[in-house]
Amino acid sequence: ALLRPKPQILSGKQVVITAGPTREAIDPVRYISNHSSGKMGFALATVAQQLGATVTLVAGPCQLSTPYGVERVDVISADDMLQAVEAVIDAADIFIGCAAVADYRPQKVGSTKIKKNSESLVLEFTRNPDILATVAARKKPPFTIGFAAETNDVVNYAAGKLTRKKLNLIAANDVSDTQIGFNSDDNAMTLLWHDKNNELQQRALGRDSKTAIAEAILTQANQLLNNATS
Ligand code: CTP
Ligand code: CA
Repeated sequence: ALLRPKPQILSGKQVVITAGPTREAIDPVRYISNHSSGKMGFALATVAQQLGATVTLVAGPCQLSTPYGVERVDVISADDMLQAVEAVIDAADIFIGCAAVADYRPQKVGSTKIKKNSESLVLEFTRNPDILATVAARKKPPFTIGFAAETNDVVNYAAGKLTRKKLNLIAANDVSDTQIGFNSDDNAMTLLWHDKNNELQQRALGRDSKTAIAEAILTQANQLLNNATS
């Protein structure tokens, strides 16, 4: 595509985005994590910057280069990610929780390597803080956007998260389709939000590059943000 400058619809806006997986330590040499590549969050950061926003990208461990003009904060665990988000969230107009945050972390982190001295091993897990819900529950929350990766009943589960976490917008995707999503360059999404009458609205975004999906999400968010303040 030609490098035509994009309309600066987000100029003057501060956008904070989480991306990638988190890693939860088991002992000094091991962790649990997931297959998130970080591509969707990095695409959002790239496009938000191109649309004129000031962007902070809080990234879990991923093999991607920092988008042009974006401030990147690297983190490892969900606790680290929450701390990094809280350090920058006061100034944010828009928060996008795109990270695949580990839901649980090992309850006890061994200070020494666990030895294989038994036939089986049981680990106990503790729930991690929900970064997205924590941001949305602030006194003056930014416009808050979540993602929902589901294998079944996609719209219902996503609408539940929209309401429960008090989000302004959620982007739902069907991860049972292994061709797209996690490590792919493409994605397909359904955007869900509540209108002024609290009616659930939805808009399907067909399969496209993560960059194009990112632009559609940010454009929709900007429209809702402008409606709310006009
Ligand atoms: N999220 C978060 N912090 C967590 C867990 C999730 O910020 N500890 C955010 C994700 O970045 C995503 C949204 O919440 O934007 C939904 O994540 P998802 O894993 O789909 O939902 P959960 O609420 O964790 O529920 P479940 O995994 O049981 O479906
Ligand atoms: Ca989860």
